[in-house]
Order: sequence, then structure tokens, then C-alpha cells
Amino acid sequence: MEIELLGSGLLRQKAEPVQPIGHEYRKIADDMIDMLHAGKGVGLAGPQVGLMKRIFVVHIEGSAPLVFINPSIIGTSQELTRYEEGCLSIPGIWAEIERPASVRIQAWNAQGKPFTLDAEGILARVIQHENDHLEGVLFIDRLPEGKRNKVIAKYERRAAGGGKAVPGKNGGVPGAEKTGRAAARAGDS
Ligand code: NI
Repeated sequence: MEIELLGSGLLRQKAEPVQPIGHEYRKIADDMIDMLHAGKGVGLAGPQVGLMKRIFVVHIEGSAPLVFINPSIIGTSQELTRYEEGCLSIPGIWAEIERPASVRIQAWNAQGKPFTLDAEGILARVIQHENDHLEGVLFIDRLPEGKRNKVIAKYERRAAGGGKAVPGKNGGVPGAEKTGRAAARAGDS
């Protein structure tokens, strides 16, 4: 597995349902969680590792890793919050994004068991960010156009700048440069 970076067409495709949820998904989920840890991220979705299936993993500090297969967000709060987000597929870029403060999500775990979860705070934020990945949507798409163009230009400048700030596709660890940044960020997902 390797991380798809901004510009990869896979990040823009809609992922397909997992059908059936076979035993191989336990290994796939474990591999994705390993990848998430390697990138020091908090969430990772199938399309980010070239797996065009509806699966994502989330690991928030202080709780166990969670696996969401064929997820549906079945409820969102009316209350919106702004929070700074980053993405393992767009290393080095951070932006405040407005989203519902809490969500209710239904999904299956890696063992094929259905569950429903009410999430708020960082968890709700990361779930929404990852769920977007399954639709081919990136967090920068949720910025006003002017701001979005600015952050894309910034990303491209860094990518062209000799690879110091932005790890190559096969080298470096995307997001590693964010180690130690404020834990309040929902980033690198
Ligand atoms: Ni992301």
C-alpha cells in the first residue's frame, strides 16, 4: 500500500460497496491502520491507498482504532463547527473547514458486524472527512474557490520545491512533518 497524493485520479472516484465483507477485510483494515500510524494520521480511507472500496479507518488518541465498512451518515447536527483539517493525501496543507458538530453513522466493522455510532468532536470531524473520500471529495473542495486555489497553489509550490516539504510517492512519510503540532487539529486524515 502507498498513499495516493493530490492529483491522483483515484482520489476523485467514488468507491464501491464492499460485498461481501470477507475475512480479507480484517487484514486490509489492519494494514490500513498500520499505514495510518506510519503517517501519524487520524483517519485513512480506501481510495487513499488505491483501494476503491467503501472502507475507512479512524484512530483518535485515547481510544481504540475503528473500522467503518459501507458506512452511511444517517444523521447530522444542525450545529456547525469550524476546525482545522489536513489530509495524508495533501501533505503540508491545513485549512479550517465548517461541518456539522456531530453525526450518527451506521457501518460494519472488519468482522462484518453492523454498528451505529454517535460521534462528536474530533471523531465526528474525522468520520466526515473520511466519508467524503469515499465519494471522491477532498476537504479542500469544501473551501471557497479563492481559498481553495490558494492552498492548491501552495501545495504545488511545495511539491515542486525539491521534495523537502512534500514526501515523494514512494519515499518519506506523508504527514510526518506535522508531528508535534497541536493535538486539537483533526488533521492528516
Ligand atoms: Ni484525507
